[in-house]
Amino acid sequence: MSTEPAPAGTPAEEPAPYGGAPAPTSTGPRRIRTHHLRELKQRGERFAMLTAYDQYTAQIFDEAGIEVLLVGDSASNNVYGNESSLPVTVDELLPLTRAVTRSARRALVVADLPFGSYQASPQQAYLTAVRFMKEAGAHAVKLEGGLPMAPAVRLLVDGGVPVMGHIGFTPQSEHALGGYRVQGRGEAGAQVIAEARALEEAGAFALVMEMVPGDVAAEVTAAVSIPTIGIGAGDRCDGQVLVWQDAFGLRTGRMPRFVKQYADLRATLLDAARAYADDVRGGTFPGPEHTF
Ligand code: KIV
Repeated sequence: MSTEPAPAGTPAEEPAPYGGAPAPTSTGPRRIRTHHLRELKQRGERFAMLTAYDQYTAQIFDEAGIEVLLVGDSASNNVYGNESSLPVTVDELLPLTRAVTRSARRALVVADLPFGSYQASPQQAYLTAVRFMKEAGAHAVKLEGGLPMAPAVRLLVDGGVPVMGHIGFTPQSEHALGGYRVQGRGEAGAQVIAEARALEEAGAFALVMEMVPGDVAAEVTAAVSIPTIGIGAGDRCDGQVLVWQDAFGLRTGRMPRFVKQYADLRATLLDAARAYADDVRGGTFPGPEHTF
């Protein structure tokens, strides 16, 4: 487990009052809080976010020092076998979120609110967000949309729920947007900036920008005081996020242009599974050392 300290420049956190969570120690990792991300932006330091949906990836990414873990609704098409993020439900995402919050000691864990669980009203958004915090221990939630979501963001923030926004291409609106397309080209760039300002004004602590031209993303990053996290939004965001199966090669095939592949886990697992099957068929596993 990493003992890397939380970003410098803020006073040490007090022990949790009234029992409960273990008190932070001088040697243990300190939990990343939303204010740490804002301080990183102020210092011009970038941070990393990855998706995580289970115990071991949460532990590994946490140990690697990834600042934010997102239990994305991308679990729909990376865990549950759906074609898009639309079908996944709150009841399917809650146990994944619980596994990640139980396993990450340092990272800020953000739970995605799935399609249909928050758009009907700010009250619906609040009740769903509270489920993720109470039943799964999420530290914050993420929801998609700009101006129309501002009232929901305000209600959540006033009710104690930190909110990460998500603008540009919003996968839950795939059909409304006419497919996977870059958002904010040309004159539409001003709209992306307006959406970002509305979310900041409503109290969001950070925002994801997906598939937005790099120069527009840079303008948004300069226009708001909250950190921006890019995915297909160029290099001038405060942080970056990728879906881990894309970044580490568990998924293969045609990838979006914004994905950089850091490993080929599919090939590694395929080789391992074939070697195991060969050993079993050839009678070389289990050997005497595996036998009681
Ligand atoms: O669900 C998800 O993985 C996301 C990221 C692509 C930002 O929303």
